[in-house]
Amino acid sequence: MTDIYSSYRKDIYTEPADVDIDTLQNLGPLRSMAGVWRGSKGLDVNPKAAGPETQAFVERLELQPIDPQTNGPQLFYGLRYHQHIVKPGEVETYHDQIGYWLWEPATETIIQTLAIPRGQVAMAVGRAAPESKEFELVASRGLTTYGICSNVFLEEAFRTDEYRIKITINDDGTWSYDETTTLVIKGETRFAHTDKDTLIKIGEPALNPLAKAKSAR
Ligand code: HEM
Repeated sequence: MTDIYSSYRKDIYTEPADVDIDTLQNLGPLRSMAGVWRGSKGLDVNPKAAGPETQAFVERLELQPIDPQTNGPQLFYGLRYHQHIVKPGEVETYHDQIGYWLWEPATETIIQTLAIPRGQVAMAVGRAAPESKEFELVASRGLTTYGICSNVFLEEAFRTDEYRIKITINDDGTWSYDETTTLVIKGETRFAHTDKDTLIKIGEPALNPLAKAKSAR
């Protein structure tokens, strides 16, 4: 692949011409993740004072296409997502997460942004070919690109050094994630906070606003 960033640097303002506005047709490896999903085999290992706690969970995960986004010459297609997790049979939120999955076709790069209501945000990055069925993204504390940013309490008590997520697109139309959030708990104990689940489709994705307007014409 050519070094696209060196060509970007020559002109940071001009946006790409002839952008295809149909996001669902341009999501590369993220295409198989678009839609509304349910997971009932989730497994979480989280830190507790008495030691690691393993907890089953169920989740609803919605990933909807957004209009193409440009930063000058840079072009992203993407999905806006909301993940909501409860313990089986319960109402109370166990984990909530929002953000974007982005695909940059020119560099075959995937970005996941995430925000969780613990006062924490992160941005993970990975590379994948458009037809990839497996890909991995990483965010690292201390970086100003693809980093992790926490509130003061978390930074002191449950420092998050790394977030890593591996996605597998399965042949039966489901997909799975396996993620590890590496914490350093006060006193310098490293802790692998892990979460995994397999998602079953319960709804098709909508069209992104521009594609919807075009199809209505
Ligand atoms: C399916 C995904 C996830 C689930 C179900 C989950 C669930 C949990 C649970 C139950 C705890 C313990 C809470 C407590 O005792 O107060 C915890 C702790 C924590 N989680 Fe997650 N988590 C998930 C993903 C993440 C991600 C992606 C991050 C950050 C990148 C993260 C960061 C943390 C941190 C920093 C703590 C320590 C704070 C604490 O224990 O109070 N978690 N998580």
